[in-house]
Amino acid sequence: MSRIMFFGGKGGVGKTTSSAAYAFHCADQGLKTLLVSTDPAHSLGDIFEQKIGATIKELNPCLHVLEIDPEQESQKYINDIKDNMKKVVSPVIIEEIEKQLDAAYVSPGAEEAAIFDRLVDIITQYSEEYDKIVFDTAPTGHTLRLLSLPELLGGWLDSLLAKREKALSLKSMMDLGNKNKHEYLLNDPIIGILNRRKTNLERARSILIDQKLLNFVFVMNPERLVIEETKKAVRVLEKYSIPVNSIVVNKLLPDNLQDDFWKQRKALESSYLQEIEQAFAGKNIVKIPLLNADVRAADLARIAPFFAEVG
Ligand SMILES: Nc1ncnc2c1ncn2[C@@H]1O[C@H](COP(=O)(O)OP(=O)(O)OP(=O)(O)O)[C@@H](O)[C@H]1O
Ligand SMILES: [Mg+2]
Repeated sequence: MSRIMFFGGKGGVGKTTSSAAYAFHCADQGLKTLLVSTDPAHSLGDIFEQKIGATIKELNPCLHVLEIDPEQESQKYINDIKDNMKKVVSPVIIEEIEKQLDAAYVSPGAEEAAIFDRLVDIITQYSEEYDKIVFDTAPTGHTLRLLSLPELLGGWLDSLLAKREKALSLKSMMDLGNKNKHEYLLNDPIIGILNRRKTNLERARSILIDQKLLNFVFVMNPERLVIEETKKAVRVLEKYSIPVNSIVVNKLLPDNLQDDFWKQRKALESSYLQEIEQAFAGKNIVKIPLLNADVRAADLARIAPFFAEVG
């Protein structure tokens, strides 16, 4: 049984609904569960019909929820980097770097980096306390960029570390033997910060690829474009060795339809389902019916049992 579950998929397919129903199921089994939304358009609050924010809210003794605010995290992340950079690089280029960082703040990717930092914090901070941590993610593109970050940021941190070490070597040479280079490196606060970030990232990477700890659930609908996008996304995750154990096919039409139009839609759906079962053979395929209205907290109990298969 994996303890950390990510729910991903194309926009609007039912990620928030599915992650909430799954968390509901886990809590119902007596597992202490933390449901976390990382989506800029938070809809956990809509489902549970109450305001959920950046501090953990207890919906019941086993079900706790949290929403990460990407805007706020992103601003904090960039400020942290700026502060660190100021200590690392010469003042001459600080202004240039600040400009670049401000541009980075509004560019795609910065928000993901910030959310990622927070995810790692949450996983390291809470994985002892909770039996399950369930993440509701933003639509696929964001998530894929997010999950590829440990590799990208790893290289960037290495280059910052190398720069700092070089600067310190020069400093120790000027220090006429009072302290050796080793002492400089050991006592340097910036090397400390960078190393901690690096350790954090390495830990994140090892969490992401640890099948026993983490698993990814893709939510989809039986529709042409969604099937194609999901196939691609699963391939990308598997390329990064991130395990995907379940596919949720959401919004399935009822069986006993009379009207010709709906019968045709149902036949098409059946052929898509076959294709899905072939394309994702070996994974749990969880089928969720289309309800007659939007899913609210009171409906979660109805669809939660379907998620038993996810594990
Ligand atoms: N099985 C279902 N039956 C009926 N309505 C559903 C079902 N699943 C989801 N919905 C409705 O579809 C809409 C989208 O669902 P949801 O918010 O869970 O999708 P999402 O993938 O999280 O979307 P986004 O990409 O915007 O975050 C919501 O209004 C939700 O109530
Ligand atoms: Mg959502």
